[in-house]
Amino acid sequence: MTDLYPVNPAFAKQALVDQAGYEAAYRESIEQPEAFWAKAAQRLEWFKQPTQIKDVSYALEDFRIKWFADGELNASVNCLDRQLAERGDKVALLFEPDSPDTPSYGVTYRELHERVCKLGNALRNLGVKKGDRVTIYLPMIPDAAVAMLACARIGAVHSVVFGGFAANSIADRVSDCGSKLIITADEGLRGGKKVPLKHNVDAALKLPGTNTVETVLVVRHTGGAVDMQAPRDRWFHDVVDGQPAECEPERMNAEDPLFILYTSGSTGKPKGVLHTTAGYLLWAAYTHEVVFDLKEDDIYWCTADVGWVTGHSYIVYGPLANGATALVFEGVPNYPDVSRFWQVVDKHKVSIFYTAPTAIRALMREGDGPVKQTSRASLRVLGTVGEPINPEAWRWYYEVVGDSRCPIVDTWWQTETGGHLITPLPGATALKPGSATVPFFGVQPALVDANGAELEGAAEGNLVIKDSWPGQMRTVYGDHQRFIDTYFRTYPGSYFTGDGCRRDEDGYYWITGRVDDVINVSGHRIGTAEVESALVSHPKVAEAAVVGFPHDIKGQGIYAYVTLVAGEEQSEALLKELVAHVRKEIGPIASPDHLQWAPGLPKTRSGKIMRRILRKIAENAPDQLGDTSTLADPSVVDSLVSERKVK
Ligand code: WT7
Repeated sequence: MTDLYPVNPAFAKQALVDQAGYEAAYRESIEQPEAFWAKAAQRLEWFKQPTQIKDVSYALEDFRIKWFADGELNASVNCLDRQLAERGDKVALLFEPDSPDTPSYGVTYRELHERVCKLGNALRNLGVKKGDRVTIYLPMIPDAAVAMLACARIGAVHSVVFGGFAANSIADRVSDCGSKLIITADEGLRGGKKVPLKHNVDAALKLPGTNTVETVLVVRHTGGAVDMQAPRDRWFHDVVDGQPAECEPERMNAEDPLFILYTSGSTGKPKGVLHTTAGYLLWAAYTHEVVFDLKEDDIYWCTADVGWVTGHSYIVYGPLANGATALVFEGVPNYPDVSRFWQVVDKHKVSIFYTAPTAIRALMREGDGPVKQTSRASLRVLGTVGEPINPEAWRWYYEVVGDSRCPIVDTWWQTETGGHLITPLPGATALKPGSATVPFFGVQPALVDANGAELEGAAEGNLVIKDSWPGQMRTVYGDHQRFIDTYFRTYPGSYFTGDGCRRDEDGYYWITGRVDDVINVSGHRIGTAEVESALVSHPKVAEAAVVGFPHDIKGQGIYAYVTLVAGEEQSEALLKELVAHVRKEIGPIASPDHLQWAPGLPKTRSGKIMRRILRKIAENAPDQLGDTSTLADPSVVDSLVSERKVK
């Protein structure tokens, strides 16, 4: 028996969508998608209204995904200009710095509009044109949103790179999309520690493939010393402050690219997920309003970083297109102490709070005290995203953080989907801890077995989506074939999510995790192949295999098996060196939690590494190894099992 938390009738009464409303809208969205989405598109402001609504074929030989294809609009106009008449003095972004001793401040819609226009003009003066790519590598400060929206204003395609990535990862992303310009800051600040952003950019631009970059704009944030290399490097304020406060927005076609965001897959380097203008913006705005039951006076806080898609859709584009007040938090949950989140909630009277299960689990471990010392009376909706939430953490979030008063929306989605696909609506959906519940409007999930046969009723299988939705990614930047092969070839006619999932007898969906070689570490996607290639780039490593294993706080941790080059000695010092090497190559988020020496790896006779076996060893479940008889040398398994040790 799973717990069921019925919708609170008082909440339902004031909600934007109640249960009957959800059912009617969902039915219409499936039965009459054209009419439904034509109407929904009216929430955007268009230069030219679309008359073509949906033009989609998942057939491999005749593949296309187009929404609102003859419409014209500009995302920054939707997020800014449109709000000026009624919300010019409303706070758009509420900035809470890393340290509670640094004053917080609000940026109104009018001020944000002006800052975006000035930067848009500056970018144009620097030669950035419609369609050019701009890399953004900034801390969680309002300038990050300004930079994204300024690109959108002039039709440049932004590629935000998370501030936790190291030089190599920046270089890969810059070279893949051929960025012309980078916007960064002197340093970031997280939990009282400085992050050398400009220094990392300097190192990245020494690497091959990055010579498309003509200009680096540097925001002065901490005031720390940086090398400025003329004429490439320019101070942001020098270039931007004197610009005119109006900037003509570019007329964008609905299907013109809005941004690229790199994400890890099961093979190769991260892929550039490309989102286009209208469908993405509509999806971000619509889901943001309905899923969080957004009202005019809400103070909305999503704790993600703009370096991830959650920050794109649910800090910048969704909230601003809805005229909301969004909090931008520079810091971390445990600085200066583990009560910080709740102190910020009280300080700014946050009413909608959206975070990740890993943060909830980490804070839960600290006990109820740090939560209970705050009021949190302003909260009315809680959300989670990034990975499955275990029911124990869900209940703690519900009972302790939300005082059993606030519905929790467990939103399942992906970088690729642009926004929520499976999620409760807080006034419409009875909740079950650990389930992302039911599909959003227009979304048709299905479960298929390994052969692609659709499973009916209560079942468990691979999660696919049977038809397109406007917020869907349109291509992998520069590699359309990879897009089709990754998502549409496995189960022809459907979009394959890469997730496993169970559907219960009530039709609720329970995501069980990735079924491919992607590890979900604290809600961040890491490809096993990326960590492996970082490890083998070390001169002493001959071979490496990386798998995920269950981790109490992170959800999954990274477990690496390493075979050294003949003649190299295993040592504690080398182990540390290899972990540091991965941090340096990819970034701290990819640090292996465990590293085990592997004199040999379990391989089939054709040389394929059997990860299933490595996963079981990492999980410390040697009794569940299954059939090892097809291995080229079954004895390597025995030695790995006996050598397994947890740091
Ligand atoms: C993968 C996508 C979506 C923004 C953040 C992560 C997992 C995401 C949930 C959830 C269970 C979830 C899936 C998905 N995931 N949300 N509510 N319940 N799993 O975006 O980096 O593209 O990762 O995160 O495995 O495929 P992402």
